[in-house]
Amino acid sequence: MRPQEIIAKKRDGGELSAEEIRVFIDGVCSGEWADYQISALVMAIFIRGLSQTEQSELTRAMLMSGETLDMSDIELPVADKHSTGGVGDKTSLVIAPLAAACGLAVPMISGRGLGHTGGTLDKLESIPGYNVHLSTGQFKSIMKECGFAMMGQTAEIAPADKKLYALRDATATVPYIPLIVASIMSKKLAEGLDALVLDVKTGSGAFMQAFDDSRRLAEAMVETGGSFGVKTMAIVSDMSQPLGKHVGNACEVYECINILRGTVKPAVQPTLDLSIELTAAMLRLAGVSEDDAEARSAIDDALSSGRALDVFRKNIELQGGDPRVCDEPKLLLNEKLIKVPVLVDRAGFISAIDTFAVGKAVCEIGGGRIKAEDGVDYSVGFASEVKIGDKVGAGELIGFVYCRKAGDAESAVAKLKNAYEIRDVAPAAPELIRATIT
Ligand code: URA
Repeated sequence: MRPQEIIAKKRDGGELSAEEIRVFIDGVCSGEWADYQISALVMAIFIRGLSQTEQSELTRAMLMSGETLDMSDIELPVADKHSTGGVGDKTSLVIAPLAAACGLAVPMISGRGLGHTGGTLDKLESIPGYNVHLSTGQFKSIMKECGFAMMGQTAEIAPADKKLYALRDATATVPYIPLIVASIMSKKLAEGLDALVLDVKTGSGAFMQAFDDSRRLAEAMVETGGSFGVKTMAIVSDMSQPLGKHVGNACEVYECINILRGTVKPAVQPTLDLSIELTAAMLRLAGVSEDDAEARSAIDDALSSGRALDVFRKNIELQGGDPRVCDEPKLLLNEKLIKVPVLVDRAGFISAIDTFAVGKAVCEIGGGRIKAEDGVDYSVGFASEVKIGDKVGAGELIGFVYCRKAGDAESAVAKLKNAYEIRDVAPAAPELIRATIT
């Protein structure tokens, strides 16, 4: 079957067979399909659409393009959480040790930050020595020893996605739900999970900003997970403002370790609340807890006893990092950075936040990547106590920028100030959990 025949069929609105989809994905992996042919088919899919069957077959072909982790020797239920990404979205660092302390095995294969969003791997690497480059053997043995392990996507897991995603990114074909579902789910289904909880973000810092789109994405992923035999549910959560207090790699780890240590200031509360919500969903879905009350009581016990912190400490040790950060979180922060206040010009209520712009401002001072190959400065960031609905007086503080150069500070401060909209009337504070899809 020649690529041009498959491209023409979709161009003319036809439904691709499972065999045609498999030929396409094989061609992507083997290099038999040229980039322009892959891009042409992806654009035809974007315009003409994919049926539910085609979407499932694409997910299957992408999943089968690589290896699936064998978890058959793991006695505990195996569960993971995946977030579609946001600004200050750091819950993985609380959820993984917490879920492990409550009796789950958590194989967390995570990504790096790109553009305005951060990535769990970058956050972890801000812990001195922490190694995310593990073989699947090391990954499993760390998970067996402490309950969870963290690593990056390997070349063996859903390799078709890496190539396809790069071409989608370059051809403006990322925002199409069936392609996103196949991309995310092919990677998650390769983890050999019993249960998967998805955190689909919605709002100004999410990559699907409109609530209806986020909800449709969540529904499609839940349906796909179920059809592959993995118990799957999704929470659509608010990303109309940064989650918690910090945006930046090391300072986000600092926030999470403080949560595990039981130090939770008001600005940090949403990070804890969302982490509890998602962990409770994992425990229920995987059958470790009978119901929500039992799950929350197990979580409470794992946090208050310090067991979740101990699990994190053990994981850091096993992954080569410096476990002292669990006892002295301040070790993560660089005292030599310039600390510059961001002040509001006028009095009123914080009515909206351009969260995308907040993420971009941190990225531009070095905290994130503009291109995939860029390096990251783990220590820079933004810390803010102010949330939508808060009242501020003229000249009051929105937060602090932590950066290396005065020039960076000036431009970041201007962008952050602009990102916070102030009006005379108090808006309704956004709900953290916007929908739950089972
Ligand atoms: N994240 C992914 O992994 N894939 C997509 O297509 C979009 C977001």
